[in-house]
Amino acid sequence: MQQPLDYAQSNYDAFLAELKDFLRLPSISTQPQHRDDMLATADWLRERLLEVGFPRAEVLPTRGHPIVYAEWLAAGPEAPTVLLYGHYDVQPPDPLELWHTPPFEPSEVEGNLYARGVSDDKGQLFAHVKAVEAFKATVGQPPVNLKCIFEGEEEMGSPSLTPFIEEHADLLAADVALISDSHILGEDQPALIYALRGLAYVEVTVTGPSRDLHSGIYGGAVFNPIHALCKMIAGLHDEVGRITIPGFYDRVRALSPEEREALAELPFEREGWLQEAGVSDEWGEPEYTIVERTGARPTLDVNGIWGGYIEPGAKTVLPSQAHAKISMRLVPDQEPERITQLARLHLEGLASPGVTVEVSPLHGGEGAIVDRNSPAMQAAVAAYAETFGRKPVFMREGGSIPVVATFQRVLGIETVLMGFGLPDDNLHSPNEKFSLAMFRKAIETSIRFYERLAEGGAA
Ligand code: BES
Ligand code: MN
Ligand code: MN
Repeated sequence: MQQPLDYAQSNYDAFLAELKDFLRLPSISTQPQHRDDMLATADWLRERLLEVGFPRAEVLPTRGHPIVYAEWLAAGPEAPTVLLYGHYDVQPPDPLELWHTPPFEPSEVEGNLYARGVSDDKGQLFAHVKAVEAFKATVGQPPVNLKCIFEGEEEMGSPSLTPFIEEHADLLAADVALISDSHILGEDQPALIYALRGLAYVEVTVTGPSRDLHSGIYGGAVFNPIHALCKMIAGLHDEVGRITIPGFYDRVRALSPEEREALAELPFEREGWLQEAGVSDEWGEPEYTIVERTGARPTLDVNGIWGGYIEPGAKTVLPSQAHAKISMRLVPDQEPERITQLARLHLEGLASPGVTVEVSPLHGGEGAIVDRNSPAMQAAVAAYAETFGRKPVFMREGGSIPVVATFQRVLGIETVLMGFGLPDDNLHSPNEKFSLAMFRKAIETSIRFYERLAEGGAA
């Protein structure tokens, strides 16, 4: 009988063609004009899940974009149950003029597939779907019980997901969760993530005069809200990059000397990192390494700032309002609500005479640290090692996947973060890509993961 790995290897071209169909669907969750595209993408996924053998696959409505749920529980009560999470929504593709090929027309160039969402997260999600097909087509069914939850609101902060999980805790009961929505260190160096950062995101509006004023008539006697906002922002970090919001660091879990040692041993090359980031020098808390600053320390960044006149030419105006979007990456045990509150109090307290400051929360999510010693983690280590010919390293990730903390809190399960992206995939950026080699390896690693996990028994 043909084995799942052989089947995957000989059907790879068909898998790739289907992935391209997935990528042609512009499932941009934050843009209301793509509502129907979101539904079409969810339906498309449900059909693929039925096709690869899931006896149950449904598009479940939420207040926002639907959740695709599927299950195949044929391996029996002795076998472990894996809850596979992924997201079918993508970031907006702008700025369009910087793409070398159109974002929703997948193009193969030199071993990479270019399209919006190909790495984040459609290619990674779809690799798991095709791994299931490999089992169905050969041995008849996967060796573990599988439940899939694919959401369409990840890139907008998952507003419907937490309530959905809370309301469907029984339906989603599993031994372990599996997420491929991150990257490894290189094509030959797999990595398992054991920590993710959380997020608190706010929008700040500074209002000065009740309307835009002539800067010749009023300038010099009315405080400009853009100046006020810039002053506030400039004060949010001290000279060396520490955040000045009182209480911000209160609950930050300190790094142990052992963990710092382990992080220092990860393969990391400063020059290459600078080059990849496109900067000439590093910045930030001097007592921490770059790896620590980007993975294990909390941060604050202004994501966008606007106000006043920004069209071509000069307009002499003293604007009424200034705005900024500010995100804070959090580490365990910082709570997003508390940090949002601290940031709000601090920013509102910085209001200068004649201006008011309003802070509105946009979204947030908790960071997480997962158990590295579970049987599922061991299965992931083995699966990566067999596919890549090299054992994975354990690393912290600076990005956020808030559902990991929700799975811990609501379902009481740990998550295996088995990424297949590469650091230069251009996530959320023009020319997002996914390595074709990684797509293959993702399918193979998924097959091996389920096989190794089944051998170990219930997780
Ligand atoms: N897949 C990313 C998160 C990620 C990126 C993990 C790189 C590991 C490596 C996810 O789709 C994402 O973009 N998350 C957002 C947070 C969300 C709440 C909007 C993020 O990290 O900005
Ligand atoms: Mn993602
Ligand atoms: Mn993303």
